[in-house]
Amino acid sequence: MSQKVALVTGGSRGIGAACALALGRAGYKVAVHYRSGEEGARAVVSELPSGQAVAFKADLSDPAACQDLVKAVKEQLGSLDVLVNNAGVAIDQVLAFAKPDDFDTLIATNLRPVFLLSKHAAKVMIRQRSGRIINLSSVVGHTGNAGQSLYAATKAAITGFTQSIAQELAAAGILCNCVAPGFIATDMTKDLKEEVKQSILARVPLKRLGTPEDIANAVEFLASDRANYITGTTIHVNGGMYTT
Ligand SMILES: NC(=O)c1ccc[n+]([C@@H]2O[C@H](COP(=O)([O-])OP(=O)(O)OC[C@H]3O[C@@H](n4cnc5c(N)ncnc54)[C@H](OP(=O)(O)O)[C@@H]3O)[C@@H](O)[C@H]2O)c1
Repeated sequence: MSQKVALVTGGSRGIGAACALALGRAGYKVAVHYRSGEEGARAVVSELPSGQAVAFKADLSDPAACQDLVKAVKEQLGSLDVLVNNAGVAIDQVLAFAKPDDFDTLIATNLRPVFLLSKHAAKVMIRQRSGRIINLSSVVGHTGNAGQSLYAATKAAITGFTQSIAQELAAAGILCNCVAPGFIATDMTKDLKEEVKQSILARVPLKRLGTPEDIANAVEFLASDRANYITGTTIHVNGGMYTT
């Protein structure tokens, strides 16, 4: 493979770190983006062969930072072939107590960067006549989940966004898909109360939480030539958990 370049947002830990490592091991040059987790991003870089991965810092809730990040990756690594929009936050709250600020934070962190990074990356990819955009949505964006209405709304929006840009960008050879994780063992889920974890597990036919590597396998597949005829769809990686 001529060395392609992949940008993984939120590559400092959890699912993003696993995606960055999987893509690096598959031969991609990897831009490991982080916001505050410099140590985690450097650890990912150091696990890959020297020169194969570079850490990039940006707060993606700042729209200008999204444009600057794509520009920096292109300048430093030479191209941008795969964009993995993984960075995200969960703010869980029942509707009665959900605040307008929570809504704004979720949109600014989970949704707007997916739009802006895809837009800026697509400009590079259109010139290359090829590219992959892989967006991390969520099972709850498809099923809903009590206490997660705002988070689920951002994830459902990512699905509609991805299906739309898949149709727009197909002619330029750019394939756009989602990976929708179920409940995965990361920092995002580690503070869930034991009874909540148990009630989630009761709804997972495979009877375990997913691992970041379970998700990274699907992302790496969608980035690869094995996925050449797949666009505008979602791979659900959730142990069979489709109902809440
Ligand atoms: N874990 C699950 O069960 C689950 C289920 C469904 C979907 N997902 C989705 O999968 C993705 C990864 O989840 P995860 O569990 O791996 O999350 P995580 O462990 O909490 O990590 C979140 C990542 O997002 C980055 N991030 C947060 N706010 C940011 C901002 N303003 N600008 C830039 N980066 C920011 C963090 O960067 P720093 O650490 O550097 O600040 C971190 O790398 C998310 O989109 C999440 O919604 C997760």
